[in-house]
Amino acid sequence: FQPKRLAGQHVVVTAGPTFEAIDPVRGITNLSSGKMGFAIARAAREAGAEVTLIAGPVALATPRGVQRVDVKSALDMHLASTEHAQSATVFISTAAVADWRPATAANHKLKKDGSGATPKLEFVENPDILADVAQTERAVRGDLYCVGFAAESHDLLAHATAKRLRKKVPLLVGNIGPATFGQDDNALLLIDAAGSTELPRNSKLHLARQLVAEIAKRLHATS
Ligand code: C5P
Repeated sequence: FQPKRLAGQHVVVTAGPTFEAIDPVRGITNLSSGKMGFAIARAAREAGAEVTLIAGPVALATPRGVQRVDVKSALDMHLASTEHAQSATVFISTAAVADWRPATAANHKLKKDGSGATPKLEFVENPDILADVAQTERAVRGDLYCVGFAAESHDLLAHATAKRLRKKVPLLVGNIGPATFGQDDNALLLIDAAGSTELPRNSKLHLARQLVAEIAKRLHATS
């Protein structure tokens, strides 16, 4: 029996990649299956929370009892996140958001003109969704607990610690390499103001349940 550790909480989770259109049939995206975020949404729901899952384009079933909001681009995800974060008590940002989007998306499919010329793409930076949500009044006041993720290829502890401070979130979760895209298991490093804790390699669902328990512990410690 698992106690309903998140009863009364509203958890918003972002998951999956974003898709940034170049034209109506093409775009750029990030590698992300969405599995970790979906597992976290499921685990938070099992723990008794009301859960809103803001999902980029992924091929995954919605966990039972979870409210799903489908989005495509980083701008869509930003809008949905800031809206749903207004009533949330926990915001967990697992999405692999594209850092840049094409400056303009063509209305018509770009065509080869036979000359061998290639399109010149210009990019603009996308908003940092997590950093923006973590700077809202409710988050700063401590009414909205924000959790970020980091995928680093090396020096995970140092990079993730710096990221935690830069994004101003109380808890930053590092994916312990090698790259875990699409796989069913993972290992996590939890970093907060008190230090770091490792959750050893296991299924994403098992890790999600452990992470939810760790978040609940921190929520109850501050309330
Ligand atoms: O800066 P970096 O992309 O490594 O940070 C990763 C964390 O920030 C993740 O929690 C990710 O969901 C979030 N993020 C975001 N919006 C962005 C970029 C990253 O919410 N534009």
